[in-house]
Amino acid sequence: MLDDNWLAICQIDDIPVLGARLLRRANHSDIAIFRNAEDRVFAVLDRCPHKGGPLSQGIVHGERVSCPLHGWQIGLDDGCALDPDVGCAQTFAVQCDERTVYMLRSELSQPEAAENTQALAASGA
Ligand code: FES
Repeated sequence: MLDDNWLAICQIDDIPVLGARLLRRANHSDIAIFRNAEDRVFAVLDRCPHKGGPLSQGIVHGERVSCPLHGWQIGLDDGCALDPDVGCAQTFAVQCDERTVYMLRSELSQPEAAENTQALAASGA
């Protein structure tokens, strides 16, 4: 049993295998909660570090997701684009207890970290 810092989000079976479930937040960007073939669960801001594509609509393979817009591959554990692409999406702590998925309450209310997407867009990447 996890302590009160962790909030139950969903059951792992609510997340499609090799896909994602979207966690909507009131005043912040949505979070994509991914499940891979091994039932590992990852939480990443639903904004590709390239041009903001919805990562939740990408296809999971291994511990990566392919962005549906231009195909960048994003690591699910660190949110970072695979070389030669650059930039990272914010990631969030996630834990599974039995089949329940939990996230940290404190992270859910945080605004997103530095906007790599805007920085890249401004540079013309
Ligand atoms: S917006 Fe994701 S690869 Fe371009």
